[in-house]
Amino acid sequence: KTEIMSVDNFLTRDLSYTQAVDLLSTGETVAFPTETVYGLGAIATSENAVSKIFKAKGRPQDNPLIVHIGSKEELSTFTKNVPNLAKICMNAFWPGPLTLVLPIKADSLAKNVTAGLSTVGIRMPDHPVALELLRRLKQPVAAPSANKSGKPSPTKAAHVYHDLNGKIPLILDGGATGIGLESTVLDFTTEVPTILRPGGVTKEMLEKVIGPVNESKLTDEAEAPRAPGMKYAHYSPDAPVYLIEASVPKVQQAIEQIHTDEKKVALIATEQFTLTKADYYFSLGQEHQLEDAAHLLYEALRNCDETDAHIILVPIFAKQGVGTAIMNRLEKAANGNWFES
Ligand code: TXA
Ligand code: MG
Repeated sequence: KTEIMSVDNFLTRDLSYTQAVDLLSTGETVAFPTETVYGLGAIATSENAVSKIFKAKGRPQDNPLIVHIGSKEELSTFTKNVPNLAKICMNAFWPGPLTLVLPIKADSLAKNVTAGLSTVGIRMPDHPVALELLRRLKQPVAAPSANKSGKPSPTKAAHVYHDLNGKIPLILDGGATGIGLESTVLDFTTEVPTILRPGGVTKEMLEKVIGPVNESKLTDEAEAPRAPGMKYAHYSPDAPVYLIEASVPKVQQAIEQIHTDEKKVALIATEQFTLTKADYYFSLGQEHQLEDAAHLLYEALRNCDETDAHIILVPIFAKQGVGTAIMNRLEKAANGNWFES
């Protein structure tokens, strides 16, 4: 049985952290909130502890984990040859939703953290609970998103509980996460830094600080081995997701066509689509409020699993700013499905 402890409760706050630190120190896993999504943590220097993450999530072994730190001083114990541009990024965006892929110092972390790669992804999360936990523990914590592998990442403690109940000892409940999409992953082992996964820190924001960055073609199979996580099914509700042009008449027409086939449809969309006649509607907030859409997206995808919808329809977003990250997740969730009427 998995325990959920609130860190917002004044009376149990300190006990929650003590318990989490005790569990992690003794090689167990603990789920905790970050500003992006909930993570499932284990001490990054223990192969046995890290293996429990893969087991609880059902995660493929060749998909490396992100290492979380509470202070920049920890970096030098497991990285080497940190480029200047990477240091500039740390100063500009840490703590925050930016993961830096850097060369790893040999034998400094458990092998299964990096899936045997010569690089490691590192970030300092910008969340009071994550930072308090890391600073009390004083050790690097490997933590992927705390969902069952293949499902949308958890943005609330209840999502972690739904996916991992009985498989992990403790969830620290710090309420809903802010950003709602995983961190930007930026690779510094290429000549020009390369975005392997778009997130809350956008290409535009990075380029203001360090000049040109490349975007890896995230759907191109040839590029896939660079961020091993990209080749797996992701963010998938039970029913298939179909992307569709962001036009009210097009969406209405699609819904009618699906109903003609005697199927039910769930619509995940911003509020200009509220009046279309889908069987289920999950809001992504007001039109053009991309931060709200990012914050609401994973819960909306999860909510579809509580319905009997046969098809999930999602009008697309422009690939600008956070829209790039939203579309990256939606394209993976849809796995190439495009609704044509
Ligand atoms: O916001 C986040 O990053 C969350 C929170 C918990 O911090 N974590 C997260 O972890 O999303 P995860 O495991 O779900 O995603 C890690 C991504 C994967 O796509 C993985 O392939 C990539 O980072 N990655 C990790 N280490 C890497 C490395 N050395 N080289 C290339 N890609 C790496
Ligand atoms: Mg994940």
